[in-house]
Amino acid sequence: MIRYSALLAATALMGLAGAAPASAQQGELVLYCSVDESWCRVMSEAFQRETGINVLMTRRSSGETYAQVKAEEGQPRGDVWWGGTGDPHLQAAEEGLTTAYESPRLSELQDWAVRQAETAGNRTVGIYAGALGYGYNKDLVAQKGGEAPGCWADLLDERFRDDVQVANPNSSGTAYTMLATLVQLMGEEEAFEYMKKLHLNVSQYTQSGSAPVRAAATGETAIGIVFMHDAVTQAVSGAPITVVAPCEGTGYEVGSMSLIEGGPNPDNAKIFYDWALSPEAQALGAQANSFQVPSNKAAPTPEESPDLESVKLIDYDFAKYGSAEERSRLLAKWDAEVGSLPK
Ligand code: G6P
Repeated sequence: MIRYSALLAATALMGLAGAAPASAQQGELVLYCSVDESWCRVMSEAFQRETGINVLMTRRSSGETYAQVKAEEGQPRGDVWWGGTGDPHLQAAEEGLTTAYESPRLSELQDWAVRQAETAGNRTVGIYAGALGYGYNKDLVAQKGGEAPGCWADLLDERFRDDVQVANPNSSGTAYTMLATLVQLMGEEEAFEYMKKLHLNVSQYTQSGSAPVRAAATGETAIGIVFMHDAVTQAVSGAPITVVAPCEGTGYEVGSMSLIEGGPNPDNAKIFYDWALSPEAQALGAQANSFQVPSNKAAPTPEESPDLESVKLIDYDFAKYGSAEERSRLLAKWDAEVGSLPK
């Protein structure tokens, strides 16, 4: 967990055309952030600069943030949960941990983002989308010889024994997206057989979703199963990473945002929420090398973003796999049948 308080530089407030003067807004916003740390910081700093509201930001993975919001039920310390995969946001919505709110910007959003809100009775909303895949270190894979991997099936190859990383689906929304994707793609029984075999090749289940491809970038592992845009982040930084959209088809996330029920600063929370849906705020992702597809139709999609039209996407059932019952059941089953297996 990383706690970060963006310090307000008085000078940074001056000359910001169209921004509310610092004196117009007061107080704090407690932001729980579930995207990569650098984007969390860029968002916190920009919002603080534009409004004068002091942002107290904590970065945690999606499953961990869900667990924190749940643990704080009745005495919430957070105001807004911004980012991270949609499934745990939907579970939080179903459990009444988040508040219904219809932003005036809802009509500016892509259909998939609005559908997310509708599924949750407006207790959450889509802020970005991205497809699941993997990134591999082309130097390490070339050294092993053989065909380059391009499918889910290739990850079971003996060549990759102890050379694949993926996060733990309890802490990470990315890894839960993989679990739910494989169940939808293969059927539950086959998906669990697949994950048990994959377990032999997994050297480490990381806490955060994008860590595996950072490890592939530095040569610590050959393959990291992540969202494709997280693999692109490494590739554009010059790492020898090839981005793969698995040939059998794959799932995707609708990254989401929710207001926490009973949070300490509800007015500031709504100011942040509306701002975070604006095209300007959504354009900040690319500055932090985050290449998701933004949900506001007027926000530019970074040219580095994987083209989702060209990826074979499954019709991911967010209502089902984001439900409390199904998510809890699948995670318990993964713990019992996969995570606890000896190597
Ligand atoms: C990365 C991705 C996001 C995703 C998030 C989930 O930051 O860029 O698109 O929503 O991971 O994080 P988690 O650690 O929960 O898998």
